[in-house]
Amino acid sequence: MSAPERIGNPALRAKVMPAEAAAALIASNSTVGMSGFTGSGYPKAVPLALAARIEAERAAGRPSRLRVWTGASTGPELDGALARADGIEFRLPYNSDPLARERINRGEMEYLDMHLSQVAPMAWEGFLGPLDTAVVEVTAIRPDGTLIPSSSVGNNKTWLERADQVILEVNAWQNPALEGMHDIYYRTALPPNRVPIPLVRPDQRIGEPGFRVDPAKIVAIVETDAPDRNAPFTPPDETARAIAGHLMEFFRHEVARGRLPASLLPLQSGVGNIANAVLTGLKDGPFENLTAYTEVIQDGMLELLDSGRMLSASATAFSLSPDAAAAMNARMADYRDKIILRPQEISNHPELIRRLGCIAMNGLIEADIYGAVNSTHVMGSRIQNGIGGSGDFARNAFISVFMTPSTAKGGKISAIVPMVSHVDHITQDVQVIVTEQGLADLRGLSPKQRARAMIENCAHPDFRPGLEDYFQRALKESYGLQTPVLLDEALSWHRRYLETGSMRV
Ligand code: COA
Repeated sequence: MSAPERIGNPALRAKVMPAEAAAALIASNSTVGMSGFTGSGYPKAVPLALAARIEAERAAGRPSRLRVWTGASTGPELDGALARADGIEFRLPYNSDPLARERINRGEMEYLDMHLSQVAPMAWEGFLGPLDTAVVEVTAIRPDGTLIPSSSVGNNKTWLERADQVILEVNAWQNPALEGMHDIYYRTALPPNRVPIPLVRPDQRIGEPGFRVDPAKIVAIVETDAPDRNAPFTPPDETARAIAGHLMEFFRHEVARGRLPASLLPLQSGVGNIANAVLTGLKDGPFENLTAYTEVIQDGMLELLDSGRMLSASATAFSLSPDAAAAMNARMADYRDKIILRPQEISNHPELIRRLGCIAMNGLIEADIYGAVNSTHVMGSRIQNGIGGSGDFARNAFISVFMTPSTAKGGKISAIVPMVSHVDHITQDVQVIVTEQGLADLRGLSPKQRARAMIENCAHPDFRPGLEDYFQRALKESYGLQTPVLLDEALSWHRRYLETGSMRV
């Protein structure tokens, strides 16, 4: 399909213009809802042009900054370019761009880190304020004006409906065979008008293949031909393989005890190399007829689909290495019956995660001996990425698993600490923690029982005696003995790291 053929509607074809002209239609200091989720499906030309405009205007003494909403993380042409230009005043709901992260941690950019399932409902509820412009990448526009989504769906449906004006990027790099892979559900509502979402299987379609948009709101269309940008995965190292091994053993055990079916339950797998290693472990494991009800489809999930181990995967976006993205693009039609991309309010919906009984598997920054998890803040105050979908899945999963190497920063930091320096997941939402040292099954355990399991099974041997010593003294000196804590000491490991560069004594 050539670029002009992608815009099947003649009236809309007349709105094609250069990215600079489209960017000029976005008001200074306004709110822009952009497409994009984990490095896929984000606009690649208009944000760059916007960043250039913001820089030029600042040089001319007319500084301005935008409020930027997206699905989740994007790419260097969006978050990177706008952060470099100091063009973002406020950002939600997730960021993993290093330049934006630095600005956030220097206090130069306001950042609202949100449960990803809650962004669209909150936009409708009005709490986020008005949305001036939607900038959304699509694969094509049908003659009837329906928009064929690209490699992520995210919050695009909501941005297209809520925004006063719409700018589309039609990206010729996105494979036309993506058409038919998406499932856009239009029957969400605000209370008191909510009804059950009629999805009972991960491979079920309940919506439409494309986005509706009021053509009168479309003010510009920009043609692009640019790849999604994602970092390559590093091959699983010994630590990742050990974590995956413990988890496979746990699954085998749960199947043998009759607590999980032999095909397991719909899998949710977070971002990062360890999550990818677990998926690779599943490819070599004994489980068949797997399914995924998850947020992103990574390389490992494609391999599971290719191997026949996994029958179907439902998500809101791809998060592929450049090689996997190119390979998939070449064979897109083969995946159309196996992959469904949905709006993130559906892929991450608590009602559906609870009904389907997902197995949630996510990374963490640190966990404490009682099993509270910090997924977001290094030393309690520096944001790494954000909670993403981990809270949507962890609280509502059938089994909620968190995985991490037992140490960070070359062994100077213990990922298992007396008390987490920031809480994203409370102990009730955390059921299984896995490190390369072993697995702590915390289900059904009281706080003191959890502490023993965490110290024995998950802590690195170098930090285990320190944790044991802390716990034993807390058992004697704590004000209460339900969840023993030494208030003056609980965060001393973090303080020591900040003072000396190591948590080691
Ligand atoms: N203390 C200090 N720094 C730590 C740390 C700790 N306890 N644990 C990890 N880090 C640092 C690492 O050193 C690394 O820093 P660097 O980039 O400067 O090298 C960075 O955090 C990322 O850690 P890494 O080991 O590469 O882990 P990862 O890629 O598996 O990511 C999370 C781990 C927690 C950052 C990631 O899983 C995340 O963002 N989770 C929250 C969102 C989420 O779960 N999304 C999925 C839902 S679908």
